[in-house]
Amino acid sequence: MKEIKRTTVTAALPYANGPLHIGHIAGAYLPADIYVRCLRARGKEVLFVCGSDEHGAAITLRAIKEGTTPKAIVDKYHAMMGKAFTDFGIHFDIYHRTSSELHKETSQEFFLKLNENHAFTEQEEQQYYDEEARQFLADRYIIGTCPTCANPNAYGDQCEKCGSALSPKELIDPRSTLSGAKPVLKSTKHWYLPMDRSQQWVEEWINTGVLDGVQQHDAGEWKPQVLGQCNSWLKDGLRPRAMTRDLDWGVPVPLPNAAGKVLYVWLDAPIGYISATKQWAKDQERRDPGSSPGWEKWWKADDTRLLHFIGKDNIVFHCIIFPILLKMHGGYQLPQNVPANEFLNLEGQKLSTSRNWAVWLHEYIERWPNRQDELRYALTSLMPEFKDSEFTWKAFQDYNNNELVAILGNFVQRVFVLCHKYYGGKAPEPGERIDQDVALWSNVHANVEAIAISNDQFRLRDALASAMNVARAGNKYLTDTEPWKLEKTDPERTRTVLSNSLNVVAVLSIVLDPFLPFTAAKLRRMLSTGTLSWEQAFRTDLIGADQQLGASEHLFKPIDDTAIASEVERLHANRPVETTPTTDQPSPIKVVEAKPNISFDDFGKLDLRIGTITAAEKVAKADKLLKLTIDIGEAHPRTVVSGIAQHFTPEELTGQQVLLLCNLEPRKLKGIESQGMVLMAEDAEGKLRFVKPTEAMPPGSGVR
Ligand code: 2FM
Ligand code: ZN
Repeated sequence: MKEIKRTTVTAALPYANGPLHIGHIAGAYLPADIYVRCLRARGKEVLFVCGSDEHGAAITLRAIKEGTTPKAIVDKYHAMMGKAFTDFGIHFDIYHRTSSELHKETSQEFFLKLNENHAFTEQEEQQYYDEEARQFLADRYIIGTCPTCANPNAYGDQCEKCGSALSPKELIDPRSTLSGAKPVLKSTKHWYLPMDRSQQWVEEWINTGVLDGVQQHDAGEWKPQVLGQCNSWLKDGLRPRAMTRDLDWGVPVPLPNAAGKVLYVWLDAPIGYISATKQWAKDQERRDPGSSPGWEKWWKADDTRLLHFIGKDNIVFHCIIFPILLKMHGGYQLPQNVPANEFLNLEGQKLSTSRNWAVWLHEYIERWPNRQDELRYALTSLMPEFKDSEFTWKAFQDYNNNELVAILGNFVQRVFVLCHKYYGGKAPEPGERIDQDVALWSNVHANVEAIAISNDQFRLRDALASAMNVARAGNKYLTDTEPWKLEKTDPERTRTVLSNSLNVVAVLSIVLDPFLPFTAAKLRRMLSTGTLSWEQAFRTDLIGADQQLGASEHLFKPIDDTAIASEVERLHANRPVETTPTTDQPSPIKVVEAKPNISFDDFGKLDLRIGTITAAEKVAKADKLLKLTIDIGEAHPRTVVSGIAQHFTPEELTGQQVLLLCNLEPRKLKGIESQGMVLMAEDAEGKLRFVKPTEAMPPGSGVR
């Protein structure tokens, strides 16, 4: 195996089309951050790059949905994501963006080199075109029925229900998400990557680690689910894939005969890792002229190891497509591992942006100020490293109360209280060590060793568990030795115990840093030490006699049931009610026919108010009707009969806020008087959603 001198770590560029949630964080960014921090602590040379993926249909669809431009969308979310990462202690060397000029240059050059190397075939293809919107439709702009599972809302590239990879032409009854129209097939030219030609070497490289006769990596180190997904693609046979799209937002194909064509995400986003590295090297050079060794060694040198941290939806992209592109270009190292994580679910359901079923990182930071480490701890403990896992607020509470408070916080606090009480805030002089102390240290050092081993194997849950074992060992040592009793009878032994304990805290300040960087910084301040190296975690005398300790800082506090209940409630309250599972894509837009203008007086006649549904039941012998009881702040709630029974179950409606037209002439439906009308939004598939305030309002609030 080749000798490694440095590691380039990339984390999947998140689409700048919405904020980050805990699923993104647990999937790619937190594991990458922990891994990098751990390598750095051990003195390894690492570069950690990321940035916003600012191109593609996801962005343009969001712009359409928000009624604005793609540029405005990416500016907004790039800033928001960058800030959330920083606030959460995810520390990239650079957080770049793919809308930059440097990225455009880099990806266009990359394309031209591939073109020169005959990496592409140009193919004239029939593709779907929306005659109303007058544009070719990217795969994500087309929905239709899945040929495998009959899901009526499968996307042109994938059915999110059964997971099949699709091409738009395989969809039954395709519809354009732009206009709802049935798209027509029209001829267009694209640059294809004939991946079938690379089948053989990819198969060998992935499964044996051998590339061109050289052992590049040990395939046994790749996660089984990553190898499994790759091999299932390889088994089906690699097929040519179009690397360009007809879109007006993206990096233009840099050829004279390619107007209106842009690079597809496969040829755009991962090159974003390279352009980020270039920008980092430039910035470095500007800050400290002559200091930058340049960007190339991070990608091209033989002794550089490339690692991609991603979620499982990007496995084939990073293990097959990008390596083919790198190899066809020439001169680049291929990834030595792609430690992809599976998905994190939330309170029993798939995380979903469109259903607002998520814990948004920026909101967490706002609502739980200075408690980043509590969430980092829970997400690492639950990280979906080998299979999907689930975050619940209850688990978050338990990790905090039973581990951070009860073990780590308790240990550190007891040590500091006693040192301040007995020795005026100075570290005590230890006496002779006995077996009990030797056992403590051998336990601590075995765990320090285990952390590094687990980290190198991308087993960060295990690594964190070993780091907590250090705190556990310290806590148990204190409980066993009871220095608070010992002080009266054996002050010398007490000094030894507390000196050992303080030194275990010093070890914790080192080994917890990758996982809980904010807490580790507090420990350093409390111990009055600077950053210590990983090697020093094997010492037992970091805090020598008489060292003046800093003030005790608050580490963790218990989280009560009310705080947890309110988070769960918030999650449910903010969720738009839907029955059919949806994906993170916006709904197809229903084209509404314009109506003639009305006077302001006419508008003023509408009595619109916010109401809260307090009860809902089926109406006998009426499939479509539900009888709703709606509180609009009047002495008696209103009864409203609504034709939404095929869209919602009565159980999911209680608590739902609605916009009610209160002065619609009452009328009887199935013998029940309906006293108003609930206003709903409808998409091209007839799916309904409530129109409601973005935050809960008192029932009866007027709408104008
Ligand atoms: O799937 C995604 O989130 C895309 N933004 C691509 C991420 S991977 C990449 F950066 F190469
Ligand atoms: Zn399907």
